[in-house]
Amino acid sequence: MQNTFYITTPIYYPSNKLTLGNCYTTILCDSLARFNRMAGKEVFYLTGTDEHGQKIQKIAEENGVDELSYLQPVIDDTKNLWKLLDISYNKFIRTTDDYHVKTVQKIFKKLYDSGYIYKSKYKGLYCTPCESFWTEEQLVNGNCPDCGRPVEPMEEEAYFFRLSDFQDKILKLYQDNPNFLRPRSRVNEMINNFIKPGLKDLCVSRTSVKWGIPVDFDSKHTIYVWIDALPNYLSALGYLGEEDADFKKFWPCDVHVVGKEIVRFHAIIWPAILMALDLPLPKQIFGHGWLLFGNDKLSKSKAVASKEVVDPRVLVARYGVDAVRMFLIKEIIFGQDGPYNQELFLNSYNTNLSNEYGNLVSRTCGMVQKYLGGVLNKAENLTQQDQQFKAYIMDCRAQVFACMDDINPTGAINKIFEMFSRCNKFIDETTPWTLFKENNLSRINTVLCLISEALLIANTLLCAFLTDKPKTIYANWNLSAPTLFDDYKDFGFIKNNTSVTKGENLYQRLDINKEMQELYDLA
Ligand code: MSP
Repeated sequence: MQNTFYITTPIYYPSNKLTLGNCYTTILCDSLARFNRMAGKEVFYLTGTDEHGQKIQKIAEENGVDELSYLQPVIDDTKNLWKLLDISYNKFIRTTDDYHVKTVQKIFKKLYDSGYIYKSKYKGLYCTPCESFWTEEQLVNGNCPDCGRPVEPMEEEAYFFRLSDFQDKILKLYQDNPNFLRPRSRVNEMINNFIKPGLKDLCVSRTSVKWGIPVDFDSKHTIYVWIDALPNYLSALGYLGEEDADFKKFWPCDVHVVGKEIVRFHAIIWPAILMALDLPLPKQIFGHGWLLFGNDKLSKSKAVASKEVVDPRVLVARYGVDAVRMFLIKEIIFGQDGPYNQELFLNSYNTNLSNEYGNLVSRTCGMVQKYLGGVLNKAENLTQQDQQFKAYIMDCRAQVFACMDDINPTGAINKIFEMFSRCNKFIDETTPWTLFKENNLSRINTVLCLISEALLIANTLLCAFLTDKPKTIYANWNLSAPTLFDDYKDFGFIKNNTSVTKGENLYQRLDINKEMQELYDLA
């Protein structure tokens, strides 16, 4: 088994208005990172911020500060949000970090020296007040999309990357590695929309943009967008730096998880750059879908207009981090778009957390107290029904691993919930309350011991997805929280004379109408 796992989110554009939609990638990647850690692998989970470009330069100017002073509180804010959401990244990279700047300059030089980057002229439509080039498609009513003023054709000297050289190589890459880009539908999108029409060389420097990484051998040029942003996945590991042990250990990346709108950059431009650098390619690019409001991508402005709360801070404060993580992982099928609204969110809380899971925990512990005086012993004299129950749970467990190997966190969490619902069903089938009337205490013990163990086996897997309550429930059985899945991997860990307590009620059931009203008032 491979014992390392390298996973990345895209680097985020700095913003202090991050919505639930923005948290989607980091939370999903976090579940993959935690899962692989608990499976015993050494994990490197990378996230960070994409800080250069005209837009930041302009906002900083408007605020009367330099770019780094403008950025610092925004980055602090982002890091605080990731903390609130329990994002267990190993490294947070900023494209303004020194080591990143140096690596990007070295990469640019390498590509120039090997002939993959050359100097030519960039032709575009220029908005003089905004100092920005636009393409025909970006214009709004023929005018600058930012300020609405007219644009004029202009040329400037620029460096280009020979993307056109990689047309056949990228096609072959998709053919030879059907798992390189997932879900599979995105491959057809790439081929039909971008590769078949023909890949054009890519402009990779600008003289009109100042806030960025200068080309060190031609300093009036600033390295533009993708040769700055994409190599963060290498520079974070020390590639071409003084200390490159992480690069040696973790490259090639196991999976770059990105939103569908930036798949093109990761599945076409990025492999082309890596091929030009003669480096191994990432094993997989996973293009996830969007959180939607009706038919539109969820955004702050649409949320305000429709009076929906999309601020993750508000949702965490009211319902806890598990509720937010649960909704994004379970209710939005990974790889597809999915709807968000308050009602769906609140229903997910009640159905999954309060009913299916929380209630099972309190019900099980409550019965041990009520029927067995709070003391549980090993399960004995197992029936065929018990053996089938155990086999079902172990089969689900194996399927959770298979889902996660396949980068399918939604499938995995659904399987975990299938384990909980099987436990609930087993209680209904074995009816401990009837056994109590019959005074069959040894049978009650066996049933409750098996349910306790099954639920803790499932709960151990759940710890990779939900970071708050699941780790606390082991104390109910006088057990310690796991660090590895192996800590609770099979039945038989409950010892004789285990005292069981009921613990706190994990997730209070919500009155949906009341909550909806309060949220609308907050929005
Ligand atoms: N800076 C670039 C990426 C460069 S990577 C070398 C960028 N940043 S971003 O801030 O716009 O997006 C960061 C991530 O947030 C992307 O994966 C994007 O898809 C995700 N999301 C932002 N809004 C989203 C939704 N409404 N739904 C799901 N994910 C969305 O792109």
